[in-house]
Amino acid sequence: MFIRNAWYIAAWADEIGATPLARRICNEPVVLYRDRQSQPAALLDMCCHRGAPLHLGRVVDQGLECGYHGLIFDRSGQCVCVPGQDRIIERTRVRSFPVVEQDAFVWVWMGDPAQADPAKIVPWPYHNDAVNWPHRHTMYPIKAAAMLMVDNLMDLTHLGYVHTSTIGGNPSQHVDAKMDIERTPLGVRFTRWMLNSIPPPTYVKAVGFQGRIDRCQKFEFVAPGAVLQWTGAAEVGEYRDGNTDSSKLQFRLFHGLTPETETTCFYFWSAANGFRQDDPAATELLFQQTGAAFLEDKAVVEAQQARLTELGESNLVDIVSDTVRLHMRRTVDRLLAEEAQALAAE
Ligand code: FES
Ligand SMILES: [Fe+2]
Repeated sequence: MFIRNAWYIAAWADEIGATPLARRICNEPVVLYRDRQSQPAALLDMCCHRGAPLHLGRVVDQGLECGYHGLIFDRSGQCVCVPGQDRIIERTRVRSFPVVEQDAFVWVWMGDPAQADPAKIVPWPYHNDAVNWPHRHTMYPIKAAAMLMVDNLMDLTHLGYVHTSTIGGNPSQHVDAKMDIERTPLGVRFTRWMLNSIPPPTYVKAVGFQGRIDRCQKFEFVAPGAVLQWTGAAEVGEYRDGNTDSSKLQFRLFHGLTPETETTCFYFWSAANGFRQDDPAATELLFQQTGAAFLEDKAVVEAQQARLTELGESNLVDIVSDTVRLHMRRTVDRLLAEEAQALAAE
């Protein structure tokens, strides 16, 4: 089950060009393309003539041309050309999905188009700010449910076990981190403080910390699949009264999880450098090291999914470090229930 009335990341904007891109989103086959005016479009990936997948076709002046018998569809899904036929009946159309290009993403709305309000898209203006937040981005296909990847980000005690060689540090630092948690209408926000802790290898490489450091991480989950992250670190004692302005190292990560099927997803992520902005090598290193850490998450979560698929989840227990994760899951369950109720009322 997926929340349908919500914006999901369909693709990075630079993934969509003149060649149609097939992508299954919330278990629906979608074709993404850019028309000749450079506007992105998302259509159901099935021609209304004989059912051929539209991604096998090509972009032409009037829209997307089916690769089987040449029908052409515009961005709204309306057929605008049938070879050898003058009149086109209105019913000759395919379903289209609302799309918005914003902050280097193309967002898609999989639910009722009448409710697709672009103001509800999670803003991430850092992607447009190459001076203060130069970034690099990519997408990892994951063989696990999107919600398992969000779970992973909501319980960071895993850092000391999964990421020992990258961003981890000492397990007890993560387990003992002081947490401030705040619920929001569409999710949950939390701050983790790890004062007087050993810097992880990636931090030492980035800014050359010598001794112990104060670490701070601020996270926010926004349903259905965005996790916004700010991370900072300073010499011990520099963070006074919760003020993180004195960070020697800081970066922002965007995590966007879009379901492909019930047990697979797309992990869109970016890393933005806020510490050595004029040094492209620093941005690249942050990206490479973040990517290495996320491959560690991918490995453990895919293995977890395989086991859950095999044996189910009815015997799993919750522990104290699941607090934020449970807030997140409750929000998602409430939104799913509200949507089911609204559908039933119709
Ligand atoms: S199946 Fe698309 S034109 Fe015939
Ligand atoms: Fe992780």
